[in-house]
Amino acid sequence: MEVLQILHMNKGNDETSYAQNSKVQRKILSVVKPIIDEAVQKMLCSNIAPIGSMGIADLGCSSGPNTLLLISEIIDAIHATSSCSTSFTEFRVFLNDLFSNDFNTIFMSLPAFYNQLKEEKGAGFGSFFISAVPGSFYGRLFPAKSLHFVHSSSSLHWLSQVPPGLDCQAAGKALNKGKIYISKTSPQCVLEAYSLQFHKDFLLFLKSRAEEIVGGGRMVLSLIGRSSSDPSTQESCYQWELLAHALMSMVSEVNT
Ligand SMILES: C[S@@+](CC[C@H](N)C(=O)[O-])C[C@H]1O[C@@H](n2cnc3c(N)ncnc32)[C@H](O)[C@@H]1O
Repeated sequence: MEVLQILHMNKGNDETSYAQNSKVQRKILSVVKPIIDEAVQKMLCSNIAPIGSMGIADLGCSSGPNTLLLISEIIDAIHATSSCSTSFTEFRVFLNDLFSNDFNTIFMSLPAFYNQLKEEKGAGFGSFFISAVPGSFYGRLFPAKSLHFVHSSSSLHWLSQVPPGLDCQAAGKALNKGKIYISKTSPQCVLEAYSLQFHKDFLLFLKSRAEEIVGGGRMVLSLIGRSSSDPSTQESCYQWELLAHALMSMVSEVNT
């Protein structure tokens, strides 16, 4: 089955859920907040042509406290810039993730979120229409020229598929045997396969958003990076090596 059909973070709110295990991603959101503030401010103060309502999308929103935290950060930024943003009084907020994301848990937290918004910003601030858009961000998700602000955090490192060829055998041996990503022992062709897949995916992402965002709209993307240009350093691979080990030993336990 395709990755895009089955990939999802752990659902619900229990101790193994993404909701309870996303503090690192929350930290990333707080580091990026000033960049979101600046992008929203610049957009609203630049005479962007209003199309009646402002379209805002969070791509790879998952479910849990980070989803609505991000939306409140964007709303705070709009509120703080209200002297420039008189043309917008309605906001369409689209929460996107893959098909098996736990959208139900997000929906159940919306009544409390709407009440909090009303209390903090006042009933006259604007109307928010929050909806879910299931599907892959590696392709079109929204009508042409319908979005003003697009955000994505800790999501674009997920590729659309395992790079083709990695699961093939070369000279009787799987190319990246026992690994789930680039590792110290991966041959050069594995590094190239991952790089090519990222380029293809990211290009498709950018082309799709270029159709959907209005002229003068803004996009803030944050994704995992590394300080070294070598993708096989300890800093880049260590956690994936550990994860590969853990998965391999679980598989061998099942097989014995
Ligand atoms: C680590 S979570 C980040 C969630 C949230 N943005 C945060 O900062 O906590 C990555 C999310 O990206 C989603 N994702 C991965 N590939 C995707 C794709 N092609 N289209 C849409 N969502 C995707 C995953 O399902 C997952 O929910």
